[in-house]
Order: sequence, then C-alpha cells, then structure tokens
Amino acid sequence: MPMSAHDPRASAMLAPFALAAMQPGVCLGPGQWRGDGAVIASVNPANAQEIGRVRSATAADLDTAIASAVAAAHAWRDVPAPRRGEAVRQFGLLLREHKDALGTLVALENGKIKAEGDGEVQEMIDIADFAVGQSRMLYGKTMPSERVRHAMREQWHPLGVVGVITAFNFPVAVWAWNAMLAAVCGNAVVWKPSPKTPFTALAVQALANRIVETLALPPIFALAVCDNALAPSLAADPRIALVSFTGSSAVGRDVALAVAGRFGKTLLECAGNNAVIVAEDADLDLVVPAVMFGAVGTAGQRCTTTRRLIVARRHHDAIVARLATAYAQVRIGDPLDAATLMGPLIDATAVDNYRRALEEARAAGGTVVCGGNVRAGPGFYVEPTIVTGLSAACAVVRRETFAPILYVTPFETLDDAIAENNRVSQGLSSAIFTRDVRAAEAFIAATGSDCGIANVNLGTSGAEIGGAFGGEKETGGGRESGSDAWQAYMRRQTNTINWGRDLPLAQGIRFDVG
Ligand code: UN1
Repeated sequence: MPMSAHDPRASAMLAPFALAAMQPGVCLGPGQWRGDGAVIASVNPANAQEIGRVRSATAADLDTAIASAVAAAHAWRDVPAPRRGEAVRQFGLLLREHKDALGTLVALENGKIKAEGDGEVQEMIDIADFAVGQSRMLYGKTMPSERVRHAMREQWHPLGVVGVITAFNFPVAVWAWNAMLAAVCGNAVVWKPSPKTPFTALAVQALANRIVETLALPPIFALAVCDNALAPSLAADPRIALVSFTGSSAVGRDVALAVAGRFGKTLLECAGNNAVIVAEDADLDLVVPAVMFGAVGTAGQRCTTTRRLIVARRHHDAIVARLATAYAQVRIGDPLDAATLMGPLIDATAVDNYRRALEEARAAGGTVVCGGNVRAGPGFYVEPTIVTGLSAACAVVRRETFAPILYVTPFETLDDAIAENNRVSQGLSSAIFTRDVRAAEAFIAATGSDCGIANVNLGTSGAEIGGAFGGEKETGGGRESGSDAWQAYMRRQTNTINWGRDLPLAQGIRFDVG
C-alpha cells in the first residue's frame, strides 16, 4: 500500500480511546484484539491524509468472532432484561463522557461537520436511554382463550446473534440503534462497519470493552472490520439470526436474498430519494432553512437527505432564487472548523458519482442553477448544487446519488405533487410544507406519501430516535430505533396453558378416542 501523508492531528484524536495508528480490526471483547487480513487505510476526506491503518478480518477471524458471540449470547439471554438495561445505562453514561472526543473523531474520519458528529453521538446516547426504559417493557400480550380454563399469552425471547452491517455516513449511530436494543433484548452483536470509517468503530468498541470489562458481562459486543467482500459470509452464516444492513439497495437485495435462503431475518435500511413538497400556502421562511439542512447538511450523504423539491409553480422561481442565494453562502471546508457548514464527500469515488450525475442531468436537459463544481483538493470537496428542469421521469433523478444535488421541479395540483413524490423506487422520507390542514392530512393519508417517514412543516432528515426509522419499497422495509422496533431483535412465542382437567380442542373439534 503506498504511503500517503499522515494526518498530524489524528494521534491526539485517537488517544482518548487508546487507539494507535496501526490497529488490529477484529475484537472479540476486552483485550481480545486480532486480525490477520489485509491492511485497510483510513483516510481523512478533508485532506486525503491517513488517519491510520487497520488490519482487517480474514474469513477465519470472522468465524471466530461469530463463535464467540454465540457463546456470549447463550450466557446473556439468562440475565434478566432490566439488568441488561443497566449495562446499557452505563454505556450511555460513558458515551456522555466521550461525546466531544467521539464527535470529533466522527468529523475527522467521515468528514461531517463537528456539530453533526456530536449530534450523531447524541443519537447514541438517546437510543441508550430509550433502550434502558425498553428493557422493562419487552411486553407480550395476553389473549382470551376460546377454551375453558385455558390461558393464552405471548412472550418475546432473544434471537441470539445479531449481525450489524453499517455504512460510512452514520459510522456510529446506526450501530447504536441496533446494538443498544439488541443488547437489552438479550442478544450479542457482531459489527461489520464500513471499511471507510474503521477508526470510529474501533473507538466505540473500546468503550464497549470498558463496559463489558467493568460490569463483567459476557462479551456481547464484537467487531470485525473487513472488506465488503466478506459481507456475503456474514449474510450466509446460519449462526446469525438477524442481519441488520444499512447501505445501497443493490447490496441490500443481495444480503436479503442470501439471508432468506437460510430462513434468517433481515432488517434493511437501503437507499432514500427523499422529496419535499412546497405547497402554494407554504411558509417559505420555514422551507428555506429546512431545505438547506436537508439538502446541504452532511454534504448530502444522509439516507434522509432532501434530494428532490416539488414546488407549487407560482413559488418555483422565487424558491430557487432564495435557495441559490443561501447556497452561495455555505461555507465549505474543514469539518473541524466551527465556521464550516459543509465538509467533503467521503472519497474520490463519491466525487466521481457527483460529477457523473451532473453530466447526466445536463444531458437530460437539466439546468445547473448554482454549484456544480468539484473544488480543487486536497480533500474531496464539491459544491452544493441545484438542478432545475428535471422530474422523477428522468433516470438521474430516480437514482440516489450520495451527494448534495437537489432537483427542483414545479407542480400544478396537490395530487400531481404526491404522485411525483411517490414516483421513485425508494421510499424512506418525505415532507410537505403547507398551512392547509387538508393538504397536510392528504399527504400523510393512505393515499398520500408512500414513504416510511412523512413530515409536515419540517424537512426530511434529522429524525428523532423515538420513532421507528426506515422506509418502504427499495429502502427495504426495515424499522430501527424507536416505537416497537425492538421486536425485530426478538422472537415471538405464543403460549397456551391448560389449567383445567379436560382437553377441549379449539374450533370445537371433537376427536373422541374409544
Ligand atoms: C442515515 O442517513 O443513515 O434522520 C441515518 C436522520 C438521522 C439518521 C440518518 N437521524 O437524518
């Protein structure tokens, strides 16, 4: 591997987690680090300098990690759920102590601005708190039996081992959504983070190890940094009861098929192609900042990023003009500089995808109203971009390009706008801006948005953890974090108990012997 310059700031930022510039990438629990696979370099996208290197997992390392997690899950399922919740409570406290350091490391390795890095760690803390409460609320139902002196109820039991495959764009929060709930539900977790962001995962693992060690828990949190080529072995492994996958719809489909082939469970969080509808009566003073955060925030690299703006025709030109003015003021630069609003894209491939999407948009007749340029390096910077003149009839608009490109199109009637919202194959997030209760209700009705998330008078991104997070169609149908998403990490068992002295059959069937 060619040596590129080392980022001089990296070692100080790795120090709070006792991480060195060369790390083993597999961890089975406290003190149990290993990794015999290829070396992966982690690159700071803001300056293309190396943060450090990680020795990744071989297939044998992954196998060992899964075997260790199986043993840990066996022990853990016997621990009362509220005591499992206590471990997660302690984890939340440790995360609070490390919020600044971990938020900084997220900004360094992923390139999102520090405020958003901190926000991501806050999501981890929030889901930890949520999971603590949930640990006392793993409720099953009781049902009246149709049979005399019979009782019916359901219970929720742990699944065993949960495999969590996460993407670079939320390198720590998505693990936490899964792992905190999986843990209170009595499971062990094997985490395969994105090979683009291994150090943030190593830092979280270091904190997990502290919790496991201090509380003398079975090693329920395992990490396997590996090349994406190993993801199929994780999906195919029958010891992994649930595979939670975040990433592209193409890879998500492969994972789903592999897991279905062995009758395993999946939880999919794939592509989004999220639209905001701006109705005639919208409060435009809300629209502009909401679209700025949704389309420009995180450099357009959230699943929930606003990619499409569907605007009542009479506002179209005014909204585009106001947004273009705001876009011109976006400070692009070092994510760790407090004045920066937009950092870099993750890597050179992401920049290429941005460039190609804009070429395609222009060829299809779109107009680049503002932005559209790749900034000179070092670092993978592009300008936030607005394109007009293309609807979701156009292939490039139908595709999720993980970059800050916003396609703006006018609409005539609300029905047309909702149809345009639903015209893409992804179904994660959506929003409408209106003061009309009829339009708002129409948007969230069964005949309205077909997305997993549908908001009124706020943007498509930045969801709270308390709701179930996920989407329909090629987004994959999974739900994570709040509401009853915990049920995905458990198996349901229905119990019928006969406390009488007879054996009546259901449905009134008579089956008399002799
Ligand atoms: C993602 O982009 O993968 O709603 C997750 C949001 C964040 C999570 C995004 N809470 O934008």
